[in-house]
Parts: sequence; structure tokens; C-alpha cells
Amino acid sequence: MNPFYITTPIYYVNDKPHIGHSYTTILGDVISRYHKMMGEPVWFLTGTDEHGQKVQKAADEKGISPIQQCDETVVRYQELWKKLGINNDDFIRTTQERHTKIVQKILQDLYDRDLIYKAEYNGHYCVPCERFFTEKDLVDGNLCPDCKRPTNTIVESNYFFRMSKYQEWLIDYIQTHPDFIKPAFRANETLGFLKKPLEDLCISRPKARLSWGIELPFDKDYVCYVWFDALINYISAIGYGVNDENFRKWWPECHHLIGKDILTTHTVYWPTMLKAIGIEPPKTILAHGWWLSGRDKMSKSAGNVVNPMDMAEKYGVDAFRYYLLAEMTLGQDSGFTEESFINRYNSDLANDLGNLANRAIKMTVRNFDSKIPQPGKFEELDIVLMNKAHLSIKTMESMIRSLQPDKGIAEVMNVIRATNRYMEQTAPWTLAKEGNLERLATVLYTAIEVLRIVGGTLSPVMPEKMAKLLSSIGAPVDCTFSDLESAGSSTPGTQITDIDGLFPRIMVEKEAAPAPAKKQEKAPVIKEKKPEPIVPEGCITITDFFKTELRTAKILAAEPVPKTEKLLKLQLEVGEEQRQIVAGIALFYKPEELIGKTVVIVANLMPAKLRGIESNGMLLAASAGDNLKLVTIDAPDFPSGAKIG
Ligand code: MSP
Repeated sequence: MNPFYITTPIYYVNDKPHIGHSYTTILGDVISRYHKMMGEPVWFLTGTDEHGQKVQKAADEKGISPIQQCDETVVRYQELWKKLGINNDDFIRTTQERHTKIVQKILQDLYDRDLIYKAEYNGHYCVPCERFFTEKDLVDGNLCPDCKRPTNTIVESNYFFRMSKYQEWLIDYIQTHPDFIKPAFRANETLGFLKKPLEDLCISRPKARLSWGIELPFDKDYVCYVWFDALINYISAIGYGVNDENFRKWWPECHHLIGKDILTTHTVYWPTMLKAIGIEPPKTILAHGWWLSGRDKMSKSAGNVVNPMDMAEKYGVDAFRYYLLAEMTLGQDSGFTEESFINRYNSDLANDLGNLANRAIKMTVRNFDSKIPQPGKFEELDIVLMNKAHLSIKTMESMIRSLQPDKGIAEVMNVIRATNRYMEQTAPWTLAKEGNLERLATVLYTAIEVLRIVGGTLSPVMPEKMAKLLSSIGAPVDCTFSDLESAGSSTPGTQITDIDGLFPRIMVEKEAAPAPAKKQEKAPVIKEKKPEPIVPEGCITITDFFKTELRTAKILAAEPVPKTEKLLKLQLEVGEEQRQIVAGIALFYKPEELIGKTVVIVANLMPAKLRGIESNGMLLAASAGDNLKLVTIDAPDFPSGAKIG
């Protein structure tokens, strides 16, 4: 059985955790729970990144020491993970000695082998990103290419890691290991970055400028650059350099989950560091998209950061876990709004799953003395449904293995919906009324068997709620995938207990309570409504035009949709956001000629599925006879996401 090692990024302790941090950690938790269910040895690591300028700055602002800042903030992470049901096997802090001494050991080794050298540095430094950039990286003269904030120009002596030496090796490694960087368009992004000559990496900070970090073992006037220190957590935590047996148990069967903003550090710095140290790269680096606040970037200054603790308290931990995992298509950005949370909760959990459980269990309690009935002869309808449910176990397993839990969850939800349709078709309430107990027994047995499979396959996502569901139908709570698959393992005669309010419907304010008195006190201001303009036939108003949100978008990746002639699946960058659009342009463009083009899209088109593939928008194109040309922007560096109109 292959071991499975999974990590989250280690989080900076300059501020409290938010929904983005929660997402990666819940994702890691869910995937690791699935691998445990598959009977594999699993190690799930998370932790905190405690050195560097951000942490020092946060401490200075509060007038406390950096370590006090770390100690105070780390608790917020640990408490949140406990609240969110995170089952991590280890939690590393980069201020722990088990980490600092390995970082120093690696630094010394690389220095002794001349892979680290001293030189004068002249560069542009971005404090929030803690990264140096060269002149050509900067945007609009002096702005950081990542966060677009102003950079500082710095001239100083520093130590450098000979990263450039590994450029060709890295390109070749990425090209020959298609599963190394996921999704595939992120591998293309890294390869795009590697088209420019790779420079050596500045890995030190003079103490005179920043003292909060791990001291270089060969020069007491410097501390280590926070990213060089932080990345090493993935191997120091499992005993690299001190416990070789443990290290070899987990490495390189390792999967790093990261957000798209830390792609370069993980897919360029980290593998080259490992190559220099003499260790294989991890198996996978999976970069997910960003959680936006609606359509906008979440930021403290905009005051739109979603607090995960509040969401979990208000709506329940499991519902929050489910929403995050089901809503985000891995790799793409997702907009969070409380309204979309409530809609998904009410439709998937309260209506589909909650109602199914309620109906099947209550009818069994009422008609079969709270015992799972002995089924009669199965009809085709029953067999088709049970096969579908059993198939979803396999689908979930393969989706988890390819790190796409969102797709596995969607399949289980399809089974739940199919079971609700089955209940409508077989109408057990009519069977009960007619006294057709044999058929009623078969139908309820089938529904309970589906609930057992659903409860098991969704338990890594919603551990508490699914344990409640499984216990109520007398099924084992800690089951494995092979337990789930043993057909017909709901045992007739098993005692079941009624289940109330598994997912009570969330009442939206306007349904629930009358408007607060305060609001009514103020006399409403009645504005006279302007008469609607008379629009000549064939014309639209400017308001009509602006209902269509046109934006520029940069094509990052393109591939044909299998078994179709006309469709291409495109990944596009739309400002901060990443989107997938399926377009019928394969007869006119080859995928490779599209990459890098800036096109125009309809950004607010309702998402649709084309041949089962999600499409989020539409490309504008002009067609004349047999010819079709995309509408493009003819300035190479024109930003994506710009509004048109
Ligand atoms: N300390 C570094 C990681 C070092 S790993 C060796 C760091 N920390 S962070 O706290 O700033 O960010 C941690 C993770 O949170 C990153 O993967 C980042 O992508 C993710 N997110 C931050 N904001 C996010 C959203 N709004 N949405 C989703 N994830 C985002 O970077």
C-alpha cells in the first residue's frame, strides 16, 4: 500500500486566518480522510510560517516581540482547525528547533558545496510578498508583478542560491512529468515563466534590515530569506536529516496543496532547492484558485474578508466544509457570497439529502417497527439505482486519486437526486396506503442502502453529519471503501432510529421575520418614477447594452474537447480570476496558436455545460461566410479583466 503524504502551505502568522486558508486546510483534510478510508498510511501536515518581514512588521505595529506575535496568532489557527474538524497528523511551526536546525544544516551543506555564494545585490523588493524582483519583472515602472504594490529599490551584499543552474533540468522534469503540476495549465504557466533566463535566488537578509529569521550558519550578520526557510518545512517535519527511515517512508509520495499565488515559489524555487539538496521532487503540486468576495478580491482594506469561524458558528461546520468543497471547481476562482452559500445549502443539503434521509427513515420507522425491512424481489428500477450508487464509490475513489474531490462530490449528489426521483416513481407512501408491504420493503431497503453509501462517501467531507446519518440507519461509522462496496450490506432487521433536522432549511430573512421596527420608523422617501423612454424598434438603451459585461481575457491554455470536432476547452485569465470557457472554434484555430492571445469575453453569461464540461462565459468572434475570427486586443501587454464599453 503506497503511503500518502499531503501538505497545506504553512500560513503566515501576521494576521488571523480567513476563508482562503480554511479552504486549503479543509481540502487537505478531506483528501487525507479519503485516503485513510482507502486503507492507506496517511500523513497530513499543516502549520505556520513564522519568520520574515511580515511577521516582524505585525509585531512592531503592536509593540510586541515577533515570537509573542507568533505565539498569539498560532493559537487562532490551531483553534480554527479544531473547530473545523481538521484531523492533521502534525502541525509544524518554523520557529521550532526541529525545523531551524535542518534549515541551517541544509544552508551549510549548500554553502560548502558552493551552491550558495555571496555577491552584491541590486534589486526591487516587495515587502508584502517578501520577494525580490528584477527591473524587467516590474509592472508600470515600479510595481510588484504579483500584488501590484510599489517595490523598494535595495542595494546590498547578500547570499545567493545557484538556482539558474537547474533551469534546463526543471523544464525537462516538468515536461516529462505531466502529473507534477496540476491543473495542467499551471504547468504551462510555470514553463512560460521558465522561458526567461532563471536568475540565482537571493536567500539572505542582512540582520541590519531584518533580524527576525533563521541565522545563516556561515555568517552571523544575516538571516535566511523566509521562503527558503519555509519551503523546507515539508521535509523537516518528516525527519529529513534526523530520522531517515521516517523521511523515506513519506517522501517523495508527497502532494502539496497551494493557492495559485504561490505557484512560482513551489514549482520553481522548491524543486530546484530539492535537486541541489539531492532529493526527488514531490509527486504533485496542486494549485487551486482564489476565493473572491462575490466578484472582488478579498482584502482587509476592502473590508470584505469572510471569517471562517463566523460561518461555521452560524451555519455549522459540516455545511461550511461541504460548501467550500462542492462550490469551487479545483483550479478556478470562486465567488463567495452568503446568498450562494444559503442557496447551495438549501438545495443540496436541506432539499436533496436531508429530505431523502427524512422520508426513507421516517417511513421505515412507521411501517417496519424501526427495523430495516427484508427486501422482496428487486425490480430493474431498484437495480439500476443501486448500481449507480455503487459506481459512485468507484468514481469518488478515482476523483480523489486525481485530486478532484469536487467532481466526486458532484457524482454523489447526482445519486442523491436520482434516489429522490426513484422515490417519486415508486411512491412508497402509496404502497403503504395500499398495504403493498413487500414492494414497500424493497423500495425502503433500496433507499436505505443508497443512504449508507452516500453517508460513507460523504463522510470525509461532513464527518459529524454523516456519522449521525450512518448511526441512525445502524451502519458502521468508520467504514472503508471496501466496506462500502460490499453490496447489500444494509442488514435486514437492523434497528434504526428516527433522524430529525439533519440539515434544517435556512430561512432567509424576508421569509423568516418581519422587518425590524427601526427601519419602519423612518417615513419612506417616495421618488417619482421617471417615465420609461420610448425605444425605437430594433434599438436598445445604453442600460440594456451594459447588462452585457464585456471584458478582456488572456488565453492561458487550450485543448480540444475529446470526441468533438468544433469544441476547444480554454483556460483564461480574467484579471485576478481564472475561468474555463468551452468555445466552438476548433475548425478555425489550433490550440497552440491561441495561447497568449488577449480576447474579449462576455463575463456575466450564466455558466453552462457543453458536453458535460463547465463553460463560464463566451468568446466574441466575427464570422463571415466560412470564416471566423476572434475579437482580439492588439496590444501584447494589455491587462486581462479590463472592462469594455
Ligand atoms: N507562508 C506562505 C506559504 C509558505 S508554504 C511553504 C504564504 N502564506 S499565506 O498565509 O499568505 O497564504 C497561504 C495560502 O492561503 C496560500 O496558498 C494562498 O494562496 C492562500 N490564500 C490566501 N488568500 C486566498 C483566497 N482569497 N482564496 C484562496 N486561497 C487564498 O503564502
